[in-house]
Amino acid sequence: MNMDNKKEPAMTAIRSEKNRGGEDLYIRPAVLSDARQLAAFGKKTFQDAFARLHNKEDFDQYVSEAFSEDRIRSELNESTSFFFIAELSRQWVGYVKLAHTRPPDCVTKLPAIELARLYAAQEYWGCGIGPALIKACTDFARNHACRSIWLGSWKENLRGNRFYQKMGFEITGTKTFVLGSDIQEDHVFIKVL
Ligand SMILES: CC(C)(COP(=O)(O)OP(=O)(O)OC[C@H]1O[C@@H](n2cnc3c(N)ncnc32)[C@H](O)[C@@H]1OP(=O)(O)O)[C@@H](O)C(=O)NCCC(=O)NCCS
Repeated sequence: MNMDNKKEPAMTAIRSEKNRGGEDLYIRPAVLSDARQLAAFGKKTFQDAFARLHNKEDFDQYVSEAFSEDRIRSELNESTSFFFIAELSRQWVGYVKLAHTRPPDCVTKLPAIELARLYAAQEYWGCGIGPALIKACTDFARNHACRSIWLGSWKENLRGNRFYQKMGFEITGTKTFVLGSDIQEDHVFIKVL
């Protein structure tokens, strides 16, 4: 399976009906020179979504490690990680990370790819950025001969979980996610392609 998407041409514009002003939404693979902006955008979107729900010390430590520029640069360099950026009029409005990781045992439609991060900018929540990014993920996964996409999503993230169900994902199991001293229970979702 050739997983090297780093040189894939940018995808064509995806028009989402809910986009404000009707501008075209472009989704493109991230490149190494995006590292700094991606680290800052990843940190901001994660904070906007979850900071208020966690112990500040645990949260800040996780964020400073997971979204350091060095960490993001090395993830961009990995042959098993794939980031896509959503842009409206050149402004970043969302991103997604796919990764070839070892899926939990409840994921049985193999090969499977993990949807490791999916975030829309807070001011664009509800504008259709997430669905467009999911479409990019399913296109990518199908083109790379995957039979399913899986992800872990915090059980308390009710809106996120409703979104994944709306996008055709189904709960197939549970797993834990460690955020500092906080051990969270995640639903494992799968979308069979
Ligand atoms: C989950 C997420 C990626 C979905 O992307 P999106 O572009 O907002 O997707 P949609 O436009 O389909 O909207 C999703 C739903 O959120 C609802 N919503 C949007 N903004 C909202 C807000 N401020 N408060 C409450 N609900 C809101 C929408 O009404 C929509 O519900 P609907 O399907 O009944 O219409 C995005 O909302 C997000 O980044 N959320 C925070 C991070 C997160 O939870 N990521 C996923 C888990 S790691």
